[in-house]
Amino acid sequence: MLLSLALGTIASVLPKDFKWGTATAAFQVEGAWNVSGRGQCIWDYFQSFPGRIYMNETAHVADDLYHRYPQDIQIMNTLGIPNLRVSISWTRILPTGDVNNVNQAGVDFYNQLFDALLAAGITPWVTLFHWDLPQTYNNFTNQSTWLNPDVANKFNDYADFCFNTFGNKIKHWITMNEIQTFTWIGYGVGTHAPGRCSPSWGSWCAEIGGGGNSSTEPYIAAHNALIAHALAVQTYRNKYQKAQGGKIGMTISSAYAEPWNISEPQDHNAVDVAVAFQYGWFGDPQVFGHYPKEMTDRITGGRLPAFNESMSALLKGSYDFLGLNYYTSSYVHYTGVPGDNFGNDGRFWSSATNATGHLIGPYADSTWLNVYPPGFRKILRWIKNRYNDPHIYVFENGVSCPGESQLPPALALNDTFRMNYVFDHIMEMVDAVLHDKVKVKGYFLWSLLDNFEWTDGFNVRFGITYVDYNNNLTRTIKDSGYMYQNLIQSLGETTGSSENSIGLSERFKNLRTLDE
Ligand SMILES: *[C@@H]1O[C@H](CO)[C@@H](O)[C@H](O)[C@H]1NC(C)=O
Ligand SMILES: *[C@@H]1O[C@H](CO)[C@@H](O)[C@H](O)[C@H]1NC(C)=O
Ligand SMILES: *[C@@H]1O[C@H](CO)[C@@H](O)[C@H](O)[C@H]1NC(C)=O
Ligand SMILES: *[C@@H]1O[C@H](CO)[C@@H](O)[C@H](O)[C@H]1NC(C)=O
Ligand SMILES: *[C@@H]1O[C@H](CO)[C@@H](O)[C@H](O)[C@H]1NC(C)=O
Ligand SMILES: *[C@@H]1O[C@H](CO)[C@@H](O)[C@H](O)[C@H]1NC(C)=O
Ligand SMILES: *[C@@H]1O[C@H](CO)[C@@H](O)[C@H](O)[C@H]1NC(C)=O
Ligand SMILES: *[C@@H]1O[C@H](CO)[C@@H](O)[C@H](O)[C@H]1NC(C)=O
Ligand SMILES: *[C@@H]1O[C@H](CO)[C@@H](O)[C@H](O)[C@H]1NC(C)=O
Ligand SMILES: *[C@@H]1O[C@H](CO)[C@@H](O)[C@H](O)[C@H]1NC(C)=O
Repeated sequence: MLLSLALGTIASVLPKDFKWGTATAAFQVEGAWNVSGRGQCIWDYFQSFPGRIYMNETAHVADDLYHRYPQDIQIMNTLGIPNLRVSISWTRILPTGDVNNVNQAGVDFYNQLFDALLAAGITPWVTLFHWDLPQTYNNFTNQSTWLNPDVANKFNDYADFCFNTFGNKIKHWITMNEIQTFTWIGYGVGTHAPGRCSPSWGSWCAEIGGGGNSSTEPYIAAHNALIAHALAVQTYRNKYQKAQGGKIGMTISSAYAEPWNISEPQDHNAVDVAVAFQYGWFGDPQVFGHYPKEMTDRITGGRLPAFNESMSALLKGSYDFLGLNYYTSSYVHYTGVPGDNFGNDGRFWSSATNATGHLIGPYADSTWLNVYPPGFRKILRWIKNRYNDPHIYVFENGVSCPGESQLPPALALNDTFRMNYVFDHIMEMVDAVLHDKVKVKGYFLWSLLDNFEWTDGFNVRFGITYVDYNNNLTRTIKDSGYMYQNLIQSLGETTGSSENSIGLSERFKNLRTLDE
């Protein structure tokens, strides 16, 4: 397929009101960690332990978006990107997490940010929880955090406060970002805040978290986070939705999978189990009111909590859309061996290579990310089929380029690897819409800026904008940013005009051809 034809196809296939955007998260970009009354969150505490983050880096300053957002809005404007996903830092507006203790300076900051975005014609999409839980709920004695069921009520109060305070400006709410990541990595593997895990996972388990249990805690924490989501959606619907006219949902990260041995039926079956253990863990409760059968059948010893009748009823239908964060896929191999934690309860293991050594896709700069665009279309189809054809927003998709952080800035701007990744994934999404009739309503590229990539610190870059950490955080748009600009612009036309196509061919002369 030629590029111009491809763009013409996209334009005619996607809904007229398709939302193009970029995504960010407060802790990764804002910095300003100790100014104007912001309270501490569990990531502030977690990163204060040497050896936790690459080169002991911290997000104290990060991209300093807190002070520099006008510049970042300018970048969005230059590129003509009409939607920005941001998250609210809970402790910037409620320093102890508690709604009886409001930090007006924090509220003012978000009002200014939202006003500036709206004035620039950019629609803010707001995540309420992107992992930065108030440190007060990280009981220093027992590191309870999401293990404490009462945190769900605290979250609901915080959400209520946000709907009430910002709801006249914000029409798209995302309650939770990637519950699987902050619970499995935070309470199973222990390398994300709050850093809990069973001692067998490593010496760090006891060091910060004061212990943990990888067999049980990820399921308990995730359970409480799902309850928090259900309560917040209930609050929005009962008190605000009618008057404010917005929409609410959550976003779920999920890899897709392929069978490790194509001739093994059990490996094919493991694919479905793998996706049920990721997307289904949070998708099923929202749509059906209970956990996937794939999980309840396999998680032994009563370790997976169950929702009681009223909570199940509250969860069921607690979404206006389903969200997806898709980055990668892996091969999966059925083991048949009952597990004792999320990592192997599914009775399969995952691998980047299959039984005959074929790599599923090139490695990005992140150890967990192999590039596999077909998995994107397949998971979109999986969600459509399992959940009765919901509206879907892709809230994250993006890549780190191999070796990008080692390149001098001028060379890092030529991010062909990212351009290919983004283009190939968008084409898979278009195929999902065109051929599989999946109702995808929007696509948010992760990320607007290079930023604090959790345990990888600043060593791994996901931005379409380069941030020079050695030169006063100077921002420079990368080639992928201009590609995205051209893409969005072309798609604004009803048909790909020849002018745009020529401009694009010129711009994309380094991209591999698409007619392979
Ligand atoms: C990080 O901190 C640890 C513990 O203090 C130290 O051993 C290590 O050298 C530090 N790493 C860097 C890159 O400073
Ligand atoms: C805030 O943190 C910075 C380090 O990022 C430090 O230099 C500064 O002293 C701190 N300010 C206050 C008021 O604690
Ligand atoms: C923290 O946990 C300990 C042990 O469970 C408990 O005694 C204490 O009351 C908790 N503190 C707070 C502030 O919740
Ligand atoms: C930890 O503290 C929280 C909050 O005080 C409490 O609800 C929970 O039961 C405690 N957990 C343990 C294991 O002590
Ligand atoms: C974790 O909990 C399970 C189930 O209650 C128990 O069998 C196991 O011994 C616990 N492991 C640790 C490390 O505490
Ligand atoms: C591994 O993947 C390659 C490429 O898709 C395929 O040709 C081969 O049959 C696969 N091997 C097995 C054992 O599934
Ligand atoms: C059901 O579960 C929720 C959340 O765990 C709890 O608040 C509620 O009291 C429970 N209802 C009953 C009837 O047990
Ligand atoms: C793949 O599975 C088939 C069927 O069980 C088996 O005959 C074959 O040896 C397997 N291939 C590899 C490379 O494991
Ligand atoms: C950009 O990178 C591509 C592939 O890595 C290379 O072919 C091309 O020459 C580079 N362009 C510039 C202007 O450096
Ligand atoms: C760094 O950038 C900021 C924001 O653009 C600017 O206000 C400041 O003057 C710059 N500092 C230096 C030392 O160039």
